[in-house]
Amino acid sequence: MSRSEGNAKGRTITLHMVSSLDGFIAKKDNSVSWLNDDGPVYEAGISISAEEAAAFIKTIDCYVLGSRTYEHALELGWPYGDTPVVVVSSRELSSTRKSVEFYSGDLRTLVDVKLAARYRNIWLVGGAMLCQRFLELSLVDEIVLTIAPVLLGEGLRLFGGSLAEERWRLKNVAAYKNGFVEMSYRAVTA
Ligand SMILES: NC(=O)c1ccc[n+]([C@@H]2O[C@H](COP(=O)([O-])OP(=O)(O)OC[C@H]3O[C@@H](n4cnc5c(N)ncnc54)[C@H](OP(=O)(O)O)[C@@H]3O)[C@@H](O)[C@H]2O)c1
Repeated sequence: MSRSEGNAKGRTITLHMVSSLDGFIAKKDNSVSWLNDDGPVYEAGISISAEEAAAFIKTIDCYVLGSRTYEHALELGWPYGDTPVVVVSSRELSSTRKSVEFYSGDLRTLVDVKLAARYRNIWLVGGAMLCQRFLELSLVDEIVLTIAPVLLGEGLRLFGGSLAEERWRLKNVAAYKNGFVEMSYRAVTA
C-alpha cells in the first residue's frame, strides 16, 4: 500500500523529533536534559497551557518508537501515559505495562496492517535510526520538527544516513516563548 493509499484509509503517521540548532537529537552521552532547558524568552512567541497540551496529547492514538528510545524513556520517566506504545525491536523484550507491545518484522506491514487496523493518529517519536528507516520506506505522512535554541556541538544526528531528495509542504510554524520553534510539514505525495 502506498503512502497515499494508507492516507485515504484515514491513518496518518506523524514523525516528531526535537533537534538542536546544529541537528542533534541527543548528546554523545545520550542525555536529553537540554530539551527541558528554556532559552531566553522570545516575547513574540506563544505558550500553551498544561490543559491545552493534555488535550492535544489525547488526540494521539498510538506512539511508535525504536528500542533505544524506549529504553531511554524507561530510565527518564515514562512520558506516554496509558496511550498505546509499539516498540520496534528484534530482541525479545517484555513490559509489565499493558499499553506497551513489541514488534519485530517488516515496517510496512506494521504500518499498513497492524497499526492501520487499530489507530488513525499515529506518532513516530524516535529515535534517529527508526525514523530514518520509516522515511526511507516513505511511511511518514507528516513531519513535526521542533528546533531547540541550543547548539550541542556533537551527538546523535537527526537524520544520519542517506535519504533520497524529497520535497515537503510546510503546513504550519509555531514559535514559542521559550525559544523553541515547531515546523509541521506534509509529504507532497500524501
Ligand atoms: N530529541 C528527540 O526528539 C528524541 C526523540 C527520540 C529519541 N531520542 C534519543 O535518541 C536516542 C535513541 O535513538 P537511536 O537512533 O539510537 O535508536 P532508536 O531508533 O530509538 O532505536 C533503534 C533500535 O530500534 C530497533 N529498530 C530500528 N529499526 C528497526 C527495524 N527496521 N526492524 C527492527 N528493529 C528496528 C532496533 O532495536 P533492537 O536493537 O532492539 O533490535 C534498533 O537498535 C536516545 O538517546 C533517545 O533519548 C531523542
